Amino acid sequence: MSTQTLTTDVDAAHSLDELYPALGANLMTPGWHKKRPSLWRAPRTEFRPLHWRYALGRAALDQAGRWIGTDLAERRNLLLYNPVGDNDYDTLRTLVVAYQMIKPGEHARAHWHTPNAMRLIVDAGPGCYTVVNGVRLPMRTGDFLLTPGGCWHSHYNEGDANAYWIDVLDVPLVHRLEPMFWEEHPDVAQQVVSDPAAHPFYFPPERTQPLLAAAPAERGVRRVVLDTAAHIPTVSVALYEFSPSSRREFVRNTANRIFAAVAGSGRARIGGLDTTWSRGDVLAVPSWTDYALEASDGATLLEVSDEPVLRMLGFYREG
Ligand SMILES: [Fe+2]
Repeated sequence: MSTQTLTTDVDAAHSLDELYPALGANLMTPGWHKKRPSLWRAPRTEFRPLHWRYALGRAALDQAGRWIGTDLAERRNLLLYNPVGDNDYDTLRTLVVAYQMIKPGEHARAHWHTPNAMRLIVDAGPGCYTVVNGVRLPMRTGDFLLTPGGCWHSHYNEGDANAYWIDVLDVPLVHRLEPMFWEEHPDVAQQVVSDPAAHPFYFPPERTQPLLAAAPAERGVRRVVLDTAAHIPTVSVALYEFSPSSRREFVRNTANRIFAAVAGSGRARIGGLDTTWSRGDVLAVPSWTDYALEASDGATLLEVSDEPVLRMLGFYREG
């Protein structure tokens, strides 16, 4: 396409209708004649409030485990996607969640990548662990652990039962901003250089339960924000403890939020979705959607949200 062509086509137009194709041919859109609005009065996400059940995810992983072998162990996961357009990956605009399973004797190969990852262990027997930059961290039922972007990480199951966990990553955010890097470890496995009893990336119930117990209860609901910001700046992570029959309503806000049920069961209303959840289930709360959570018996819920990104940019708002 030459400048001469642009000038000629534009000069030759006798009307706006003739000008439009000449503009389009030169990759210009008239702002007064664009196909879709670029501004709207309030957030209007296409992402839907959704609920995924662990019982189904686990059964599906067991089935897949019959055919997906050890060579693909690090990818034996089920992505919980939101049916927006042709999306088959993102759970919400900035976050992706997956159920993952590894079998006894397997390990998921070491790699690092730009996106930050977090894991909530739903069911694991003894002998499961993750290695992050050479540091061995246990993966036990109820544990929550971080593998920040840029860290080598790999998972191992040296026990005798399948291990299941929930992955939450900020991959969709990285897709949108485009700083993606990824590398496989040259040695496949990492050397374990330390095996500490406590680590900033490791949040077992022994670490989080005392924090929850010390938090003030507001109509039967306690909340603590976990100390993750220094390691993963794109998300905030909180634990909620609901006493039996307690309920909490939340105002809509511009953050995207994932809830995973660590223990107990209850009911959730997220926009137009009304559902009952139980341990291991995942709930997705899209931006600008009001929601309410309640517990039947006592319950613990893990929340991962992109609120820090919105706040960092000055885009966080409630209403
Ligand atoms: Fe990874």
